[in-house]
Amino acid sequence: MQSVFSRSLNIARRSVSMRQIASIAALPDTHQMLQNTCRDFANAELSPNAAKFDRDHLYPAQQIKQMGELGVMAVAIPEELGGTGLDYLAYAIAMEEISRGCASAGVIMSVNNSLYLGPLMGFGNAAQKDAFITPYTTGERVGCFALSEPGNGSDAGAASTIATEKGDHYVLNGTKAWITNGFEAEAAVVFATTNKQLKHKGISAFIVPKGLKGFSLGKKEDKLGIRGSSTCQLIFEDCEIPKDSMLGEPGFGFKIAMQTLDAGRIGIAGQALGIGQAALELAVDYAQKRQAFGKPISKLQSIQQKIADMSLAMESARLLTWRAAWLKDNKLAYTKEAAMAKLAASEAATLCSHQCIQILGGMGYVSDMPAERHYRDARITEIYEGTSEIQRLVIAGSILKEYAS
Ligand code: CAA
Repeated sequence: MQSVFSRSLNIARRSVSMRQIASIAALPDTHQMLQNTCRDFANAELSPNAAKFDRDHLYPAQQIKQMGELGVMAVAIPEELGGTGLDYLAYAIAMEEISRGCASAGVIMSVNNSLYLGPLMGFGNAAQKDAFITPYTTGERVGCFALSEPGNGSDAGAASTIATEKGDHYVLNGTKAWITNGFEAEAAVVFATTNKQLKHKGISAFIVPKGLKGFSLGKKEDKLGIRGSSTCQLIFEDCEIPKDSMLGEPGFGFKIAMQTLDAGRIGIAGQALGIGQAALELAVDYAQKRQAFGKPISKLQSIQQKIADMSLAMESARLLTWRAAWLKDNKLAYTKEAAMAKLAASEAATLCSHQCIQILGGMGYVSDMPAERHYRDARITEIYEGTSEIQRLVIAGSILKEYAS
């Protein structure tokens, strides 16, 4: 099915603000059009509902379906498999605009695009692609990615979930934790060890649909932010999966996880940019309206300093994000650049949402305004898909290798 976005590519839509002109001047037409389409959608459907999703821990099912129709639930998946057939730059741009409206919708989209569809696209065979990609491109179904466990997060290679070979099946045993989309997902990319002696080289990746005997959901987490998305445990107790559930080769799972996370980090950078941009726009708007000392507070230099620092952090993180996406789209190495993008964008989101509250004062601290939600939502971007500390390790590791060679 052709997405609304694919169909509207030839329709000129121009409602570009000065801020957008300043930041998108170099983007191709397709990407500018996608940006406008997502921005209009986020303004109409996400921003007005984001507080409710957050307050009531409500999964935005209707909006996710609409996002499927727009084509943003499978941005970089080829059209013949049901995707939109665009690139990672388009994905990063769409992620920012959707997350600017609602960070929960942003992470649901990000996990489906890069952590679920990404490894299936990269490592799935034809049958796996047919069964597990196409039905997940429309927003009707979402997938999830199960790497972390109660006993391992940053040390991803220490996974203790086991897949034991038994006839024409593997038997899965173990618990996966902190799984975004876990509650709604109808299939999961699951990492489990097929040979414990080999440590990370013994980890394999599997595609596992929900509903199998021995596959149940554990605790749903009550989170600080992104409360419209679910995070829960996946529990496997003697869960039999057919042998052909494996993605790629046995023992290749750790590499699949690492490559998937490289791409995923571009998505989370986009999400962080959206949260930071929402906070920046709110702060600027408020500063121009709020009067103190006989004038709008935007005339005060202390407020201007904050606005300058916030926009500097945003613009530099956006450029890093677009560069990482461009490198991936051009099949160049981008592990370091994706880590830089995620690190810079998540710290920019934290800075902007923190300073937004400072500019709004009391109004920033209460739920009448979205500033406090942006602050809570920003926090996770420094944690999931690799903490800021892990991003620094990845960056330093790459730099040290570059200088040693
Ligand atoms: N691409 C391909 N291969 C890679 C790679 C990459 N980016 N990074 C490492 N590898 C390979 C190495 O080349 C090495 O291969 P060999 O064994 O063949 O030599 C192997 O992986 C092991 O590499 P390291 O020794 O560097 O691995 P490590 O155990 O020291 O860990 C790490 C490296 C960067 C800390 C990694 O464990 C990591 O990224 N941890 C963070 C995990 C993470 O981001 N978790 C988030 C969970 S998902 C999530 O948040 C989901 C959500 O719901 C939103």
